[in-house]
Amino acid sequence: MSDILTVITGTESHHSIFEEFIRKLDVSVCGVFQEGKSVAPVAFETSSETVSTHDSPQVNAKFPLTSSASGNKVLRGRGRNSSPPRGKRVAVLFSGGPAAGGHNVIAGLKKVLGPGNTLLGVRAGPKGLLKGDLFEITDAAVASILNTGGFDFLGSDRTKIKTEEQFAAVKATCLGSDLDAIVVVGGDDSNTNAAILAELLYQKVKKDGRGVQVIGVPKTIDGDLQVGDLLPISFGFDTATRIYAELAGNILQDTPSSRKYWHFVKLMGRAASHVALEVALQVKPAVALISEEVAEKKTSLASIIDGIARVVVLRAHKGMNYGVVLVPEGLVEFIPEMNALIASISHEMAVGASEVDPMSPGDRVAFVQRKLTGGLAALFRSLPAYVQTMLVADRDSHGNVQVSLIPTERLLKDMVATRVVELDPKVKFDTQSHFFGYEGRCGAPTLFDAAYTYNLGLTAGSLILAGKTGYMASITQLEEGGAPVAIPLTGLLNIEQRHGKDELVIEKALVKCDSPAFRYFASRREAWAEGDLFCSPGPRQLWGPASKQIPMTVALNRGYGSLGFKF
Ligand code: FBP
Repeated sequence: MSDILTVITGTESHHSIFEEFIRKLDVSVCGVFQEGKSVAPVAFETSSETVSTHDSPQVNAKFPLTSSASGNKVLRGRGRNSSPPRGKRVAVLFSGGPAAGGHNVIAGLKKVLGPGNTLLGVRAGPKGLLKGDLFEITDAAVASILNTGGFDFLGSDRTKIKTEEQFAAVKATCLGSDLDAIVVVGGDDSNTNAAILAELLYQKVKKDGRGVQVIGVPKTIDGDLQVGDLLPISFGFDTATRIYAELAGNILQDTPSSRKYWHFVKLMGRAASHVALEVALQVKPAVALISEEVAEKKTSLASIIDGIARVVVLRAHKGMNYGVVLVPEGLVEFIPEMNALIASISHEMAVGASEVDPMSPGDRVAFVQRKLTGGLAALFRSLPAYVQTMLVADRDSHGNVQVSLIPTERLLKDMVATRVVELDPKVKFDTQSHFFGYEGRCGAPTLFDAAYTYNLGLTAGSLILAGKTGYMASITQLEEGGAPVAIPLTGLLNIEQRHGKDELVIEKALVKCDSPAFRYFASRREAWAEGDLFCSPGPRQLWGPASKQIPMTVALNRGYGSLGFKF
């Protein structure tokens, strides 16, 4: 084989020239973990700071062991753990959608647990925990995944662990694999799972009567797992938003070049609009919708459409028959009348589950049409068939509508087209629609996500070596060197309606319309609508001026003095 063919063949199976290089990139570590050129586990002290929600009394009653052990108080990493235990067997699993940096959580865990303890990987997320599908993670395996995107090393799934049978299966896995601790890497629903497991496994699991520790790690590109200064952002958000901003920036660059299309871009992020807001700040489009503002102002679908159509007409009159509209994935659930419709459909589908589950999409639409009454029935009938079908599709395992399947970008562009004709029939309005979702979840992590996740792994491992359970690992003070903290999971739970029933779940952090990031966006959007003030941030950088950057929304909302992170 010629040299060049050897090189090309050598890039098969995750060995691109880029991946080979990034696997060797150093990851920066918070000062508190550094011990010469290596890292060491930190010890934790209990702070006076507590976390709670308005439902904490009910939560504490349901989680008596872990809530009273933690007192819902935050732990702060302080100094070395001078006598870390040896012989611990720790399992790690990914749960929910992938997010860049998951592999570095494993690398950080492996590093801090050291050769004296065993790290096991759980295949295919919570489902693998139920089956006891575990394998030992070696140093060589860690070297092969460092700084790479995706969750493919372990796999993931969205199984919610909540039945007695499942609890028994988890206990059997703990016994069968002789586990001392489990690390759950996931979003709000998965960390709810972690809280439930921590309580379940608190004691009397092992043959000697001991329990199994459970630690959560905050992952989700949606950015809706945030706890003020204690958890500035979940991992994966930075990478995903930088990828979307690059793509949106490229499209924006195309618009005044070809001067012929309006692009409707739906951005992933199940419920909250953090992704849309971050991308808007990065690229400055003509229009960006923020679901939380729509809900707060009770804006109807017709008003949203009218607002976009007026921008289209305004720009057309200035000779700009083009632009970009950013649409958050979860928008439909925040439009008041659509929210009421979805709640009603979910309720009818839950009540009639045995009848509805086996039905074809068409039969489900007919079933829902029979059940709905009044204005909701009329609204459902007015929606295009491609939206109706998605609204009656199966909920995910946590009872959520699968909003990534609803073509909101298509719905908006079709409705805006009608409204533009009403406002000014002479305006030319040609459109393209896009959905940026899966493109951003598994890219190679940015330097921020690579370092953040490695340090989250170091924190989770340190918590296990310190004997803690029922906490979520976090890193605070991102611009001042980074500081490991542990947030009591029970303090984050609140009551929500799922599958038509009250359930304790971690509260989603939504965009706040009085936050500095939103206020800045709101102060600039009219100017962005009227002119071409967009910018194209380009590809994410592993070196160069934008490499050590944190998300703009995080820097603004946390009041940082710069966009840089330092650790
Ligand atoms: P997590 O909350 O589990 O991190 O997943 C988030 C997400 O990427 C959402 O943005 C999106 O709506 C959803 O996953 C898509 O899920 P799926 O991978 O099942 O299509």
